[in-house]
Amino acid sequence: MEKTIVFPENFLWGTATSAYQVEGGIENCDWAKVYPAGLACDHYHLFEKDFDLMKSLNQNSCRFSLEWSRIEPRPGYFDEKEIAHYRQVLTALKSRGFKTIVTLFHFTLPLWLADIGGFASRRTVFYFSRFSEKVFREYQPLVDFWITINEPLIYAFAMFPLVNKKPALFTPLEVRSAVDGTADARGVSPLTGFTSLKVAINQLAGHKKVYKLFHRLDPKAKVGIAKNNSYFEPLNRDSFLDRLGTAVCRYVWNDWFMNRIKKHLDFIGLNYYFHQRIKFPYSLKNENRAVSDLGWEIYPEGIYQVLKKLKRYNLPVYITENGLADAGDRQRPDFIKSHLLWIFAALKEGVDIRGYFHWSLNDNFEWEKGFAPRFGLVEVDYKTLERKPRPSAYYYAEICKNNSL
Ligand code: FCB
Repeated sequence: MEKTIVFPENFLWGTATSAYQVEGGIENCDWAKVYPAGLACDHYHLFEKDFDLMKSLNQNSCRFSLEWSRIEPRPGYFDEKEIAHYRQVLTALKSRGFKTIVTLFHFTLPLWLADIGGFASRRTVFYFSRFSEKVFREYQPLVDFWITINEPLIYAFAMFPLVNKKPALFTPLEVRSAVDGTADARGVSPLTGFTSLKVAINQLAGHKKVYKLFHRLDPKAKVGIAKNNSYFEPLNRDSFLDRLGTAVCRYVWNDWFMNRIKKHLDFIGLNYYFHQRIKFPYSLKNENRAVSDLGWEIYPEGIYQVLKKLKRYNLPVYITENGLADAGDRQRPDFIKSHLLWIFAALKEGVDIRGYFHWSLNDNFEWEKGFAPRFGLVEVDYKTLERKPRPSAYYYAEICKNNSL
């Protein structure tokens, strides 16, 4: 690796969030009924303050999501007040010179839509495109990049069953992972059942429909996905079965969805968190490795490996999420550094990487795990809502400022 690491000109440096995890006051969506987030970080009211903070930390870009249940609280009824709110948000970002990446669907659905089955129902493809068209017409001039769906397979196989309290079908891989604590993000494996498959297939259709629609409305629109890819490797490279298991996991988890939408993408958003070693038919823990507060293995080289595999799509890549729960901020600076070094290595080998969004700016509501995991560069005191940048926030700020490590 080279000594001075300088990223390409106009590289995007920022942080990523999602509405439900940070805004607070969202009552009308499916998650609110099962895992209420209360006031969260009250980003809904404090967004200007948060954007000032990002600016002071030298970030030049922001990824966030629109809360569908605010904008369309009833089928076909669009709330002008909420539409104005997100216009203010986007304007506040633009007035600070930020590039904007807007996610249309980041795990939460309006209640009325969840009640008819959400993405398990084909009708949702229509509703998704109607909602997307509305916000596109409202905001397109203020949006640099659109992300249709966040982590479609994590959603289909983990979040959808969670929020719908659906039992999952288990594969050996999953049982073993759950037992030894090495389960993927949420204890998922590639096969959680038929409903999940329907959810995935409807998300595919939704993505394509919205991609085509946005391009019809504006041929210059930039539309992508935030895809969660893990690095799978065989425990024993000499074992045919371990290699086979790895190939299957890679195909099902990383490639299947991507291959189906590759003609309907202007860029790829990559969310990278996980490394799995396959000892057929199980997924095993990498012993003696550093882990985050959630026990998720820290494996920076994996980001390089998955980035290299994305090269074949020949598209610009943005790291739309990468981060860890680390309340003490002991590992975060090094985590950022080591991941960026591997990202740079992939860049040097021809992967067209154009930006990095750390997950996340502030501590926030981590879905079924609640407020305990601390993913923020900035610590949030949930009693006073005070924001206090951790040392890693300043460390990252230097990188953003210099565009180099
Ligand atoms: C990702 C999600 C994001 C956040 C991080 C920690 O899977 O997209 O909302 O929960 O994990």
